Amino acid sequence: MQAKINDMTLAYSDSGSGQPIVFLHAFPLNRTMWAEQEAALSSHHRVITIDLRGHGESDAPLWHYSLDQAADDVRALLDHLSIRQALFVGLSMGGYILLAFYRKYADRMKGMVLADTRAQADTPEGKAGRFQMAQIAYKQGPSAIADIMLPKLLSPATIQARPKIVQQVRTMIEGNQISGIAGDLMAMAERPDSVPLLQQIACPTQIIVGELDQATPPADAKLMAEQIPHAKLAIIPNAAHLANLEQPEEFTKIVAAFANELA
Ligand code: MLT
Repeated sequence: MQAKINDMTLAYSDSGSGQPIVFLHAFPLNRTMWAEQEAALSSHHRVITIDLRGHGESDAPLWHYSLDQAADDVRALLDHLSIRQALFVGLSMGGYILLAFYRKYADRMKGMVLADTRAQADTPEGKAGRFQMAQIAYKQGPSAIADIMLPKLLSPATIQARPKIVQQVRTMIEGNQISGIAGDLMAMAERPDSVPLLQQIACPTQIIVGELDQATPPADAKLMAEQIPHAKLAIIPNAAHLANLEQPEEFTKIVAAFANELA
């Protein structure tokens, strides 16, 4: 499905009925990373998955991107769908966007799941790495980004023994336009430190992390769990950064249990 949002086309899926759950994907993927969660949860919930600006079937305008703007896109899509409040699930960059969304639109959040993400801003080295990656995207294209990102996203065991998942992730990355990849990198590099926000978060929060996640390790998840009032933490064994793809059943079970508590 598609909607005209903030002067561009945003692609999304909307399936099932019941309490809405909105899923925001990681960098540099798209909404199909949530296929297993969508299939399992749409029997009891209205499940919305979104291709964020710059990704998948959404437009990837060549211009400045920011996480606040991504939050504005999500809010406008919720308005378009007449959804007043939802449970949000964001993984990695999706989690960064949830923190931006909370700053602007906390009243639209019934609860949030921060998965494989962190509250801290980029370090100077991290920002320099974003710049380098944008140059690689520009000069060599999305498949070079896939080569760099795959070992950061998936565990060595998955890379070795689960070629279907590896191919699925590669296809998602290669389907993005360079404008979207570079736009995300600029947006993530500019994001503020959200650690001071954590103690002010008043909506129910579930934190999830793959025990082998090196991009946003369990220590980052623990920091959020310690600072966000009443937050819960789940660590998924045998999963790295894309915990929802590597251990889909376990990930879905945690989200489903959290959604039921909010009902
Ligand atoms: C992601 O998975 O969204 C990225 O690894 C986040 C990041 O690069 O900080």
